[in-house]
Amino acid sequence: MSSVAGDRGRRRNYLYGASKAALSTALEGLRVRLAPLSIPVVDVRPGPTDTRLTFGMTLPGIAAPERVARDILRGVRRRRAVVYTPWPWRFVMLAVRWLPASVVARLDAPRAG
Ligand SMILES: NC(=O)c1ccc[n+]([C@@H]2O[C@H](COP(=O)([O-])OP(=O)(O)OC[C@H]3O[C@@H](n4cnc5c(N)ncnc54)[C@H](OP(=O)(O)O)[C@@H]3O)[C@@H](O)[C@H]2O)c1
Repeated sequence: MSSVAGDRGRRRNYLYGASKAALSTALEGLRVRLAPLSIPVVDVRPGPTDTRLTFGMTLPGIAAPERVARDILRGVRRRRAVVYTPWPWRFVMLAVRWLPASVVARLDAPRAG
């Protein structure tokens, strides 16, 4: 279980994000290592999901855990390398990963007032 948070460094959760980025990198290497044994390694990257972890937080577009669970199961069955869930995150993070650091910093800057 990794996270979309591992795809870019954000002001509010960069230590969490860094741990997920490290995990995703480790999973990528492990996937290559275990491929000759036909053992799949699936890197699951959920967006914000309604669980104990996010209890009390206001997160727009938070996903139901049942939906995330279904996506994970489908990804495992299809032997996907990386599963973004819910699926729009795949495209959101594709765009976000390509943004220059200066743009991410501007978008992530604290709002005045
Ligand atoms: N929720 C999100 O928005 C979100 C988004 C992206 C990624 N993720 C990732 O998804 C994964 C699951 O998170 P969640 O949201 O489902 O959190 P959660 O509701 O807090 O559940 C965490 C689970 O981990 C277990 N756990 C915690 N510490 C443990 C330990 N030391 N040994 C064994 N089990 C332990 C807990 O067991 P008990 O029930 O026994 O306490 C619980 O089942 C995490 O890796 C999280 O980083 C979550």
